[in-house]
Amino acid sequence: MSVTAVAHPNIALIKYWGKADERLSLPATGSLSLTLDIAPTRTTVTLDPSADQHVASWSGEPMTGSELERVSAFLDLVAERAGSRTRAVVETANEIPTGAGLASSAAGFAALAAAASAAYGLALSPRDLSRLARRGSGSAARSVFGGLVQWHAGDDEGSFAEPIDAPGLDLALVVAVLAPGRKAIGSREAMRRTVATSPFFGAWVASVPGELDAMRAAIARADLTAVGELTEANAMRMHATMLGAVPPVRYWNADTVAALDVVAQCRRDGVEAYATIDAGPNVKVLCRPEATTAVADRLRAAFADVDLLVSGSGPGVRIVGPAA
Ligand code: DP6
Repeated sequence: MSVTAVAHPNIALIKYWGKADERLSLPATGSLSLTLDIAPTRTTVTLDPSADQHVASWSGEPMTGSELERVSAFLDLVAERAGSRTRAVVETANEIPTGAGLASSAAGFAALAAAASAAYGLALSPRDLSRLARRGSGSAARSVFGGLVQWHAGDDEGSFAEPIDAPGLDLALVVAVLAPGRKAIGSREAMRRTVATSPFFGAWVASVPGELDAMRAAIARADLTAVGELTEANAMRMHATMLGAVPPVRYWNADTVAALDVVAQCRRDGVEAYATIDAGPNVKVLCRPEATTAVADRLRAAFADVDLLVSGSGPGVRIVGPAA
């Protein structure tokens, strides 16, 4: 009746930005990510036959409002599939503080999907677990798997993530936490606005499939340069499409731009490094594991006291025990 699962965040190299179907959480395009080995989320789900509603907490703090509604709606979906009317207690915690910008809904809903489906007695294949996690948060579909992962666009059946073989391609990520704290606009709302109002959104949807093909080919030949160039270009395009929204969505600040300059300087100095940026001002730098120190040193030189997190490729979601 009580199951604990652990999942890690993922950072997209080819981004998911825009839904084709809100209710089913179907993406307008496919995407491709690296699962990290830092900042895991640990979630315990316990069924409570005496409760008349779901309850959830973050590091001991009760969830309320829209956060609780989102978790409850997800639990309802799992309970309904299991043919159960029993409510659940969710206890979840992140290894790093939420303000670091990596306390992602991806790790959260991947862990919740695994723990809740097991607690309710559903035996799901990894693919079906990915489809379920998708319903909580799109990017959670990818955190079900470790390493490099592709999430396919499609209908409810066809939109799942799966791991990609990447022999010989060892990737690391240096995360520069430039502005801890809450973002100006949530990614869900920002995506909605982009889809509804950006004249560039059609071009984004048209270009991503080709970028995914090129990325797959680059991964297959373990070509870090091509992987990095495609990653950085795709992030620029995602931000371009949202800058075209009405009103514009701009997550960057001055430090974001300065960090992009640091990354460009790394390359000029012969350190292969490529930037990507999600729905916030932080810059994530993709490089080889051997290059993380050089990248981190340059970021520290540019930003005194900047928080840096260094990650390698991490594992998929796993059940770690019957109880916390
Ligand atoms: C910029 O998966 O958080 O990180 O499906 O609405 O929960 P919802 O969105 P979410 O969006 C992630 C957006 C992104 C790009 C990416 O991870 O692919």
